[in-house]
Amino acid sequence: MLPKTSRIPGFYKLKPKERLEIVKDFASLTEDEVEALMNTGSLPIELADRMIENVIGAIPIPIGVAVNFLINGRDYMIPMAIEEPSVVAAASNAARMARRSGGFHAECTSSVMIGQIQCVGIKDPYRAKMEVLSAKEEILQKANEQDPLLVSLGGGAIDLEARVIDTRSGPMLITHLLVDCKDAMGANAVNTMAEAVAPMIERITGGRVYLRIISNLATKRLARAWTKIDKEAVGGEEVVDGIVEAYNFASADPYRAATHNKGIMNGVIAVAIATCNDHRAIEAGAHAYAAISGRYLPLSVWEKNEDGDLVGSIELPMAVGTVGGATRVHPIAKICLKILGVKSANELAAVMAAVGLAQNLAALRALADEGIQRGHMKLHARNIAIQAGAKGELIDLLVQRMVEERKIRLDRAKELLKELTSSNS
Ligand code: MEV
Repeated sequence: MLPKTSRIPGFYKLKPKERLEIVKDFASLTEDEVEALMNTGSLPIELADRMIENVIGAIPIPIGVAVNFLINGRDYMIPMAIEEPSVVAAASNAARMARRSGGFHAECTSSVMIGQIQCVGIKDPYRAKMEVLSAKEEILQKANEQDPLLVSLGGGAIDLEARVIDTRSGPMLITHLLVDCKDAMGANAVNTMAEAVAPMIERITGGRVYLRIISNLATKRLARAWTKIDKEAVGGEEVVDGIVEAYNFASADPYRAATHNKGIMNGVIAVAIATCNDHRAIEAGAHAYAAISGRYLPLSVWEKNEDGDLVGSIELPMAVGTVGGATRVHPIAKICLKILGVKSANELAAVMAAVGLAQNLAALRALADEGIQRGHMKLHARNIAIQAGAKGELIDLLVQRMVEERKIRLDRAKELLKELTSSNS
């Protein structure tokens, strides 16, 4: 038999079904597996095929709705798309604690994104920097000619910054084109503008432009949220102290800060996926922002006020859109946006910051109080029971037994399932 090859010329030109036939042969997929891939539910395969390349199916991820969220005095239901158990319940729980004292306050600084233009080979980069800055109006005009629609909506290129940086290959002039993207995430608009003004930058500086691309470190588009939680709502002053100690730990140790921030991103990214926003961009921006001081720090802060109550705040870049991209193409993302009821990208960004803070609070409270495993155990056990092959009410029975034994393992689940099915038959 000839060895299997993944070199398949013209694969991209095929229809999803034809591609799937090839993949089926390559990976020895069964008819059922092929069927499962083709069954793309509410994302028609033709639409999926227009969204990305080489499509052969779609993967459904559960959407849960976090409740109890009071943000800026308004009630929100938060659709969250995530595969991890406990996250949605934890967010709802934290939001319930917060709403007793007014919920969350949240805002987003602006919808301005940064396009970077890298220029090298300039003998006198500081002179070049001055000349680029002094050509600001001309450069902005050229940028804005690329997107009359965005300009007509009140957005577009609004300012210019220039920095000389030292690199391994000598100084570089990095021009930042600041673009107000309004309700779009803006990557397409910013990249088009950065490419359009690049020849001007070369002419002005005498240097050579290489990269022209958006920066995901969106420091002009910061979402902020803060809340005060009554000490009684969180479980007493000892728990408040535990949460503050957890924050102090994270702010002194990047190993902990990474996990602290992961907990925040559990909430933020679940909303990003539900609304089909570019979650990789948000994730990259968040972690770069966490390290912007030169040290990787937690994105949130937890303090105890003079009454012994818990005060939390968060600030992170939040490049999200409510128009453009996949958000307005994916039928489920459109519905999730409707559930959220946000009127603008800034509002969505603010809500997402509040969800991140709530998620962080829930994790820290569980860690500082009972430990995270107790809450996680039941949901984890459910997944293991299903993996072991349990169906219907056997799932609950199996979960109960595993939790009682505190042994949540696939091998044990299989043994118990055998016992239960033989005693039932
Ligand atoms: C798990 O997905 C997230 C946590 O590890 C976050 C944290 O430790 O703060 C619980």
